[in-house]
Amino acid sequence: MAQTTSGLRKLLNHPAVYRALQQLLMSDTKTAYWVNTCVRPTATMRILDIGCGPGDLVRFMPTTTVFEGFDLSQDYIDEANRQHGHRARFHCARVDEATLTSLDLFDVVIARGVLHHLDDDEARALFALAKQGLRAGGRVVTIDACYAVGQSPFAKALIDRDRGQSVRDEAGYRALAKAAFNDVKTVVRHDLMRVPYTHCLLEATA
Ligand SMILES: C[S@@+](CC[C@H](N)C(=O)[O-])C[C@H]1O[C@@H](n2cnc3c(N)ncnc32)[C@H](O)[C@@H]1O
Repeated sequence: MAQTTSGLRKLLNHPAVYRALQQLLMSDTKTAYWVNTCVRPTATMRILDIGCGPGDLVRFMPTTTVFEGFDLSQDYIDEANRQHGHRARFHCARVDEATLTSLDLFDVVIARGVLHHLDDDEARALFALAKQGLRAGGRVVTIDACYAVGQSPFAKALIDRDRGQSVRDEAGYRALAKAAFNDVKTVVRHDLMRVPYTHCLLEATA
């Protein structure tokens, strides 16, 4: 993984610290906006969250949506199970072909804040796996820190200090998805956090 956890960033390995920072930076209103416009969950959907962290996206899903979360961090998965285990399934594992063949196909695969932690080969592999796990017409939805011409210097400075070492621009994220999907839409937003920040929102349809 293209990630640094030195210095203060090590604190983010603690689920409570990670969650507190996430909620400080992005309001529930903005998270709900992203979920409702990009993920568009329904009560009968099956959703796979790759790199689910402490699993907090479950809070924004209808209660009957089937939600499976995977993360490499045992601490995050333990916290996800503590908080949300009553209505979703969480696994401490890397999503791979074997995992996917043991699960039914999904309507949506989410990777929130994951691509910018992965090098190009790992990110292309994630899109290939997502495609394998999706039903025809299913979608993979991502959101990541993004470089953009004219973005706030404060946003760029924050993004430069992210744990993820593979932040790209919009074209960079789009190219990764295009290796597996023909239908890829991206949009850059500068207004989703309480502080100046830039995101690339991506949706690719199988
Ligand atoms: C910045 S965190 C994002 C967590 C969560 N999606 C959120 O938005 O709060 C990135 C997470 O991706 C996980 N991750 C990266 N590659 C993964 C993979 N191949 N399978 C499962 N988890 C992965 C890491 O363990 C890390 O917890």
